[in-house]
Amino acid sequence: ESKPAGGLLWQKEGVAVDARIQAFLAGEDVVLDRQLLAYDIRASRAHAEGLCRVGILTADELQALCAELDRLSEEVADGRFVLDERFEDGHSAIEARLIEVLGDTGRKIHTGRSRNDQVLVASRLWLRDQLATLGAQCAAVASVALRRAGEEMQLPLPGYTHLQRAMVSSAGMWWAGWAESFIDDAELAAASARWLDANPLGSASGFGVNLPLDRDFTTERLGFSRLQVSATYAQLSRGKFELQALSALSQALLDLRRLAWDLSLFLSAEYGFCRLPNQYTTGSSLMPNKRNPDLVELLRASYGVVAGARGEIESLLSLPSGYHRDLQFSKAPLLRAFGHGLSALDLLPALLDALQWQPEAMRAAIDEGMYATDRAMQLARDGVPFREAYQRAAKPVEGESRSPEGSLAERSSPGGAACPLLDRLQARLAALG
Ligand code: ARG
Repeated sequence: ESKPAGGLLWQKEGVAVDARIQAFLAGEDVVLDRQLLAYDIRASRAHAEGLCRVGILTADELQALCAELDRLSEEVADGRFVLDERFEDGHSAIEARLIEVLGDTGRKIHTGRSRNDQVLVASRLWLRDQLATLGAQCAAVASVALRRAGEEMQLPLPGYTHLQRAMVSSAGMWWAGWAESFIDDAELAAASARWLDANPLGSASGFGVNLPLDRDFTTERLGFSRLQVSATYAQLSRGKFELQALSALSQALLDLRRLAWDLSLFLSAEYGFCRLPNQYTTGSSLMPNKRNPDLVELLRASYGVVAGARGEIESLLSLPSGYHRDLQFSKAPLLRAFGHGLSALDLLPALLDALQWQPEAMRAAIDEGMYATDRAMQLARDGVPFREAYQRAAKPVEGESRSPEGSLAERSSPGGAACPLLDRLQARLAALG
């Protein structure tokens, strides 16, 4: 059995360690901590600087700690240091390294902090970056969609409600809808990042400590926009801020699910509205004729991973206030959902860029009935009360000729040739920064 390198931080003398119990306690936590380690090191540095400010560390001790933390950070980044089962968790690994190299100076790093506030601060810092990536990815999707909206506003596409033919629409209108959706999603990611941008460090185990820690200093040092004031709230917010981040992620993945559903339908021979280059499709092990949109389907399924993660974390929060080890189980679903969700969204801009419309099939699916609403509006414009116009418009009048282009030309929501509404989306996209 491999024992943690630094021993267990909390080991009591004379108590035998049971390997099976230890293995269960450890679970996969140390491996998950790999993703948080760089953030934990950063927060450790800020904590050390704070300790120096209140006289717990001398300037020399601080310098030695910072130099070693920076070295460890580099080793983590380039793979020379790998966090593994030699350690109970990432927090222990950092302390073990500082003690190994610096002796008593290293033994001072944990003054006034707890792994309880360490995991909180690392998770919040990590999520801030994840949400920034989410926002950038949503903006990238919106940017492709908006460009294609501008180019394809006049390309007729049947519009469906209830999966029944409804009105003439266009590829551009379809794109504009996704563009606006993903702009909203980017804003939700940014809003969630702002909301969870608060510093828990200094709350220690959840009750503060009897040291004059300068919590505003570490807040500023770590680039948080505010402090989590109550030490008790820092712990109460565990699970809650993860859920908020997952909520932002799930909005984007819900949109992705619906977009993938459209593609899945449009790619079938029955619709035949679009094609994807070969690299986006796979074959069948048995049926030589198949070209399957597996990627589109896995993108569609990705929402399930996030929904599952939210379910797991919600289930955990059936707890009284204060820290409980149960809360550690929020980590796996959180990391898994962001890992999977962001890699799904990452593929989307190029896929959307590569989508090839099949204009003849799209046009062929637009039938006479899809002009009925246009006819009714025209009668209403001429002064016929709408309910009467509605009755009269069901069938075309003799000699009437309508085209998808004509139908689109007069449309309010993006559809007119100049598409002034797209400028507004462009402005919102630019404002995301
Ligand atoms: N790995 C733990 C977590 O994620 C660290 C927190 C402290 N552990 C403890 N026994 N108090 O929650």
